[in-house]
Amino acid sequence: LSNALADSFGRIHNYVRISVTDRCNLSCEYCKPDQAAAASSPQPLTFDEISSVVAVLADMGVTKVRLTGGEPLLRPRIEELVARLHDIGGIERIGLTTNGMLLASKARALRGAGLTDVNISLDSLQPERFARITGGGDVGRVLHAISASLEAGIERVKVNVVLMHGVNDDEIESFLQMTNKYPLDIRFIEYMPIGRKNEGWKAGYMPLSGILDRCSRAGWAYDAVPPEAANGSSLEHGLSTSATDSGPARYYRIAGAAGKFGLIDPVSKHFCMTCNRLRITSSGHVKPCLFWNDEWNVRPYIGKDELLKQLFLRSLENKPVRHEMLGGLKADGSYHPLQESTIRQMS
Ligand code: GTP
Ligand code: 5AD
Repeated sequence: LSNALADSFGRIHNYVRISVTDRCNLSCEYCKPDQAAAASSPQPLTFDEISSVVAVLADMGVTKVRLTGGEPLLRPRIEELVARLHDIGGIERIGLTTNGMLLASKARALRGAGLTDVNISLDSLQPERFARITGGGDVGRVLHAISASLEAGIERVKVNVVLMHGVNDDEIESFLQMTNKYPLDIRFIEYMPIGRKNEGWKAGYMPLSGILDRCSRAGWAYDAVPPEAANGSSLEHGLSTSATDSGPARYYRIAGAAGKFGLIDPVSKHFCMTCNRLRITSSGHVKPCLFWNDEWNVRPYIGKDELLKQLFLRSLENKPVRHEMLGGLKADGSYHPLQESTIRQMS
């Protein structure tokens, strides 16, 4: 593809994450989006605008779209957007990252519209603890959404667990146990310093290195799942620079388990060299890196496909070789938070 979305370091981008709203119906401890800022942020891109941007990206080799937020299910009739994206030639996978509160009743319609992947946040299985972490979430609803997604036949259902020392690290075995029974991917994620509470991050961050030990100590033998088997995604199209396009997680399976578990460690082992992602913010700016503040407004170029392509290529020329997630950490331990806009787009 002469148009291929390559950056200055040769990384090819075949995956776009699009935020469809800044609003969220929860307020997780580690995320804490600024609801006031979200309410006053510019109108999000319309479905027409998003579809037209994705058509151009598909022409440049993008095969996978993930809809994010805020909470993407707060966007009315999101399944109509999924159906429109599904109709775009070249788009093979459509994912959604959600807190699951509004998912159960939508799972079937989303699947019917062409949704292939859903990633659901679930940081505790204990109702009170879950409510505390999420600022009022209902764990029962989320568990119901997980079963509804499996029942609806969404191909890949992943559960995201942000691991926090002293908050939910006593639940590792319970989460691992879920994979024995259900064909899910449970992914443990290192807590990233992105919320507004630096103190919370410093106290809560823990590496994921102890999880495999905990699995063995619980008496469960496990094997690493080779990356090529970990994802039914688009490697055969040969565009990803990562070995497999399996995303940042490394996967394992407990012997005989229906599902897998994964480790995502953006803090201790950044995975920037295999990054194949571009982001579009809800206000319509392209961002080549989550932890980089440069962004380019796509709105003036929508409908002008050649100019839009140039804009994407320009944004990639500016993609940093790696993120500065910890760049704001000073020697004295004080932390320089990222810009508000980056925090809100975090998902
Ligand atoms: P898929 O491979 O499509 O399932 O994507 P994913 O696993 O990256 O998506 P998800 O939205 O579930 O995010 C999982 C975790 O990875 C979250 O903590 C995200 O914030 C983090 N993440 C997603 N994209 C990036 C990225 O570009 N850079 C970094 N450092 N973290 C990311
Ligand atoms: N650190 C790690 N993961 C985070 N997420 C949100 N905030 C953080 C953070 N500070 C994850 C949630 C959600 C996904 C989109 O991002 O688990 O599932």
